[in-house]
Amino acid sequence: MPSVASSPNGASEAAPVERRVALITGVTGQDGSYLAELLLAKGYVVHGLKRRASSYNHPRLEHILDQKYPNSERFHLHYADLIDFGSLCAILRDTKPQEIYNLGAQSHVQVSFQLPQYTAEASGVGVMNMLEAIRATGLEQTVKFYQASTSELYGKVHAIPQDEETPFHPRSPYAVAKLYGFWAVKNYREAYDMYACNGILFNHESPRRGEIFVTRKITKAVAAIKLGKQECLYLGNLDAKRDWGHARDYVECMWLMLQQDTAEDFVIATGETTTVRDFAERAFARAGMPIRWEGKPGLTETGVVAEGELAGKTVVRVNAKYFRPAEVELLLGDPSKARTKLGWNPQKTSLQQLVEEMVDADLEMAADPNAYLKY
Ligand code: NAP
Ligand code: GDD
Repeated sequence: MPSVASSPNGASEAAPVERRVALITGVTGQDGSYLAELLLAKGYVVHGLKRRASSYNHPRLEHILDQKYPNSERFHLHYADLIDFGSLCAILRDTKPQEIYNLGAQSHVQVSFQLPQYTAEASGVGVMNMLEAIRATGLEQTVKFYQASTSELYGKVHAIPQDEETPFHPRSPYAVAKLYGFWAVKNYREAYDMYACNGILFNHESPRRGEIFVTRKITKAVAAIKLGKQECLYLGNLDAKRDWGHARDYVECMWLMLQQDTAEDFVIATGETTTVRDFAERAFARAGMPIRWEGKPGLTETGVVAEGELAGKTVVRVNAKYFRPAEVELLLGDPSKARTKLGWNPQKTSLQQLVEEMVDADLEMAADPNAYLKY
């Protein structure tokens, strides 16, 4: 209920509602767009950080920026960058958030081998920049800080499944950078008594997933092949295993982590794992092109359509350029702590539902590029 105040002429009028204010770095990314929707629906004023680019760089926010979107007036974008400390101080000074979700990062593992220094700065030192900007603007005792940590920290895994106690063994410049961010958050929590926590999130996907992550690469190719716009999908390691959930479900956990009395770190996962191979099989089957594998596992293995209009067509091939210098072979998270302490349901969206939603969305977008705005 809005509170009611007396106006100077004695008449009662509704006082402005005290809205909570949140800042999201990485708002233009997959998770940022879902989180912005969630927070706006909860009544927050949401500020997002966008980077300067030479071309339009926030299609995932297009619908929220449309004035017809229910809470559009409570959503604001600001230019800043995690590697520009001054810009972070300015945005904090101007917006004074109570909650900060630090989702900004160079988030592609394979790309991090080509851009190791930039990845270290954006995904590692960027976290420290944000923590220091909080202190520099005097918000350290009032703000709650969420850091987008990752299951990539487990890398060459020391235990199966992985939980909050499992030791880390990063396998890429990305994971090494995220390790720095993880410990920066823990250190600032201990040193300055800040409410700062790590969400150790396992892979999460959606129709808004970036197009060079394996799930979206697969579902986008499936749609293009179905519509005769692409011949074949080239993949790397088909036998890598991932614990894949839905991004829309995972951003709820980010919010829940900042609604607790004390800051703690949480593993967020579904508790199930499967191979890239299995994901591809499910995706092709959803589009009516079930595949069978031919040849020995390795560079010469192929995926061939088993039945239907395209029966006999080779639609998957392996290309060495998608193999990584060091691979994370298996990720499987134990979400027990999040289930118990946050009351979060790790099984809200099944893998099969996720695959179907992504394939269906890509089929629609392949047929009509304007359909993008719906997703
Ligand atoms: P994403 O789609 O790649 O989005 C990354 C976001 O970070 C984009 O908004 C990007 O901006 C921004 N960014 C990149 N460099 C930046 C910089 N120097 N300063 C400010 N912003 C910068 O990633 P996502 O899948 O939404 O993931 C969100 C976060 O969770 C990332 O930190 C990722 O590492 C982490 N994470 C993701 C997963 C997953 O499975 N999705 C799992 C665990 C952890 P542009 O749009 O301008 O590039
Ligand atoms: N991208 C990609 N492209 N991956 C492929 C391909 C391909 O053509 N073929 C096989 N893979 C394998 C990769 O080798 C990896 O084992 C697996 O598919 C998943 O790759 P990605 O989808 O690129 O995701 P990721 O697991 O490396 O990293 C994602 O999840 C992390 C959480 O565990 C990213 O979102 C990270 O930012 C996130 O921290």
